[in-house]
Amino acid sequence: MNKPKIILIGKNKNLLDLICFSLQTNFRFEIVRFVSILDVIEYMDVNTDFCLVISDFAIGEKQFSNTLKTFMDKKIDVPFFALGATKKFREKNENREVVSEYIGKKNILEDLNSAVEKYFSVDKSVEPKEFCEVGFSVLTSFEGLQTDLFIQLPTGRHLKIYRQEDQINDEDVSKYQGKGVDELFLHKKVSHWLLNTINKNIESVVDNIESNKPVVLQVEPPMPEVKVEEVVEEALDEKDLMSKLNEASEEENLNKIHKDINEIFEITEELEKELGEKVGKAVKAVQKVPHLSKLLKKLNVSRNGDDYCKSHVGLLCKLTTAICHIMDWKQDATIEKLVFVSYLHDITLSDFPHLARIQSKEELRKLGDKISPDEKKVFLEHPEVIKKLVDEMPEAPADASNIILQHHENCQGTGFPFGHSANRLLPLTAVFIIAHDLVSFIIDDPNWDMKVFAELASERYSGANFNKIVRKLKTLKLK
Ligand SMILES: [Fe+2]
Ligand SMILES: [Fe+2]
Repeated sequence: MNKPKIILIGKNKNLLDLICFSLQTNFRFEIVRFVSILDVIEYMDVNTDFCLVISDFAIGEKQFSNTLKTFMDKKIDVPFFALGATKKFREKNENREVVSEYIGKKNILEDLNSAVEKYFSVDKSVEPKEFCEVGFSVLTSFEGLQTDLFIQLPTGRHLKIYRQEDQINDEDVSKYQGKGVDELFLHKKVSHWLLNTINKNIESVVDNIESNKPVVLQVEPPMPEVKVEEVVEEALDEKDLMSKLNEASEEENLNKIHKDINEIFEITEELEKELGEKVGKAVKAVQKVPHLSKLLKKLNVSRNGDDYCKSHVGLLCKLTTAICHIMDWKQDATIEKLVFVSYLHDITLSDFPHLARIQSKEELRKLGDKISPDEKKVFLEHPEVIKKLVDEMPEAPADASNIILQHHENCQGTGFPFGHSANRLLPLTAVFIIAHDLVSFIIDDPNWDMKVFAELASERYSGANFNKIVRKLKTLKLK
């Protein structure tokens, strides 16, 4: 479930950083921040999923009144808190009663906490998050702060970017800004510890922030002892950080694709688990052959370009299984065979990831001189070479090597190595070829549409084995 949202409005970014830090250390809200009233109005026009509005009076009396009026006109039944409103406003303004709580700035953070607790029953049984967001300005207001510092990856996991022994200074912090690292995270215990110091000096902290003077706080030893529960990876330097960030966003994209496929093909958790077991079995069989095992390792740690080979194989396993599922081909051996073929069909191309992307003789021809004669040979011969390797594997499923041999054939008879047409291809070759095309279709277009693929497929394929799959694809309930 999404966290409940708070709208926070103010013009001083550093003050908003501070308020967010305090709210997120103490509660589990998501905070949507605004420095422009026009943006708030626009947001409120289309969103109703917030449970509290907090506005700083310092955005200007007129702006504040406009915000309040917009809020009132929308008849939204959530509390509205005003921070630092003047006495005149509180006593005279015609809409003063719309404000649920007036909070002064003398002890702004603790008073705000009490007000939040008054309106929301805070579920103490819910485990607090282990990491807590912290703005750059809050961090750099502490002199000599030495603490582990984390970021959140697109996958939701955390990554350590500073170790306790590194001193954090302005330069370090600003170097990450604008590189997709907009929020830093501290361990919850450290957040509480820092917040204590802030609250002890809150009046002067807010005064300084509002008069644009630097805030300089001293950390108060002892620093709390922290034991991180989550398994957290560490970035060694800036380059490592950027590559880990890229990797995580690739992984997140891939997770989303798998999720969409699961939905479209109605893949249950049980089937997913079964697929995992089949993958384990295929991998084990491959590991018994030293030469193939080496290639498999390469495929799994591939850092070439965008991990094409690795994600390609994962998606193929998923889609061949998905097609069997909609065809109602429930035999264990069928899925096992297709998973095995998915892993091995291009295995000798693990050394040449750019070749694994080529699908037809036509594509190869178009690449001209970009592919050397030796590479051309490797590519054109890989179905036969791999078939031979698989035939020597005692644990290879029956017919797996023939599907591999046929995986670059097509219905028109313009494929290779033989140029066989549809009626010469095995039924499971049809599954594999269609799944393979669908994987390319998905990888090529992040906004892929299953309906478009189903239409394309009915033009592209012919022959009984292919047609019956295409008919099923067309019956899928699409998003
Ligand atoms: Fe291939
Ligand atoms: Fe492939």
